Amino acid sequence: MSRSAHPAGPRHADVLTEGHYSAPAADLNVLDEKVWSRTVTRDADGALTVGGIGVARLAEEFGTPAYFLDESDFRARCRAWSEAFGPDADVFYAGKAFLCRAVVRWLQEEGLHLDVCSGGELTTALDAGMPAERIAFHGNNKTVAEIERAVEAGVGRIVLDSFQEIVRVAHIARSHGVRQRVQIRVTVGVEAHTHEFIATAHEDQKFGIALADGQAAEAVRRALALDSLELIGIHSHIGSQIFDMAGFEVSARRVVQLLAEVRDEHGVELPEIDLGGGLGIAYTSDDDPREPHEIAKALSDIVTRECESAGLRTPRISVEPGRAIVGPTAFTLYEVGTIKPLEGLRTYVSVDGGMSDNIRTALYDAEYSVALVSRTSDAEPMLVRVVGKHCESGDIVVKDAFLPADLAPGDLIAVPATGAYCRSMASNYNHALRPPVVAVRDGGARVIVRRETEEDLLRLDVG
Ligand code: LLP
Repeated sequence: MSRSAHPAGPRHADVLTEGHYSAPAADLNVLDEKVWSRTVTRDADGALTVGGIGVARLAEEFGTPAYFLDESDFRARCRAWSEAFGPDADVFYAGKAFLCRAVVRWLQEEGLHLDVCSGGELTTALDAGMPAERIAFHGNNKTVAEIERAVEAGVGRIVLDSFQEIVRVAHIARSHGVRQRVQIRVTVGVEAHTHEFIATAHEDQKFGIALADGQAAEAVRRALALDSLELIGIHSHIGSQIFDMAGFEVSARRVVQLLAEVRDEHGVELPEIDLGGGLGIAYTSDDDPREPHEIAKALSDIVTRECESAGLRTPRISVEPGRAIVGPTAFTLYEVGTIKPLEGLRTYVSVDGGMSDNIRTALYDAEYSVALVSRTSDAEPMLVRVVGKHCESGDIVVKDAFLPADLAPGDLIAVPATGAYCRSMASNYNHALRPPVVAVRDGGARVIVRRETEEDLLRLDVG
């Protein structure tokens, strides 16, 4: 998405005419700390270690492909977000990026809240003991059964996404004899600079209620008129993998304008606004993400300023980062199986996973980095395409990257920044077994989501 074509590849480059790739790093053995989790380093023998454990041991004990999640990095990122926003704001981790019970417990220990968007995510959160009042429930088409469970559990907020849902949630809350705290999700009309499929604040899409034509004001009118709903605020999420803060600032300004209109019309100052998630991370050395404290400052400054000029009390802010917390904390470890050099084009490196453990390259044209991690090498760089083992030519994990030319079957390679939307979007295509997630911390490693087995596949196939 953000790389420029570079003509300087040392091998094949004279004939390579298509593809967007950066020049190879001066030394392919150096792991760019921007894209690797914080405890990743190379040991004296040149093998990658995470949390103090070498990849050879990890591969032997847990197999490949596998996701290795750097727990202390995950926790540090949670703390960075909550410290950056401070006590007057709430950080909701977006569970869709990656959720399992261990993660829910870490979130609780680090004081975060949780955004869920399905009954399955809600069950995972509650089962791991997340207090319901710290859960926000999202979705553009929550089922009646899901809403009932959320209301019964006592979730802290349901984010209303449509006019039908206002009535549906009100009805269910009334029948349970509760007053449900809700927010209304609005689309603020911002074109976020990201892939079309992950941009969500322009009007021509399925999420939210438009601000522009007065629909959002009408939704507020209807919600305020229903006794079984307690309207606590307005929600806006403009998209995902965004680097430019301008979209968030426009969104914050428009949401505050709506709060002012609501105050003028109803005499009510809604106490909260949620500015969603969507902050970008570094997938390659060319990406430059913002730090949580810069994001927090930019957002709270704009909200404070707009509220002052509208004569409003500053509402409590919440945000919903998913990728920015978990994305950088994991890498996927693969074993190289076959290598196919195509003279004058590129070299195809096939690994033991593929689009079933990382669909993002095929789906969004996403860019990733890759490194040889079981050893170092002084061989010259070769331009590679890392592909999977699926029966599909679009089964690409890393489109264009450089690996040492002496790469051989049996080598371990790793793709960093796969913590978000890889395991959570993994599939069983070709009856692949979804890889495990292994948490690594302080010299210890434990499976937090186990590898699927063929018995798991057959269990659902009832014959
Ligand atoms: N809040 C809401 C309401 C959302 O819809 C999302 C993401 C988030 C928060 C978290 O966004 P994040 O901070 O993780 O960017 N599968 C795509 C991303 C889809 C995001 C959907 N909603 C991908 O792999 O890039």
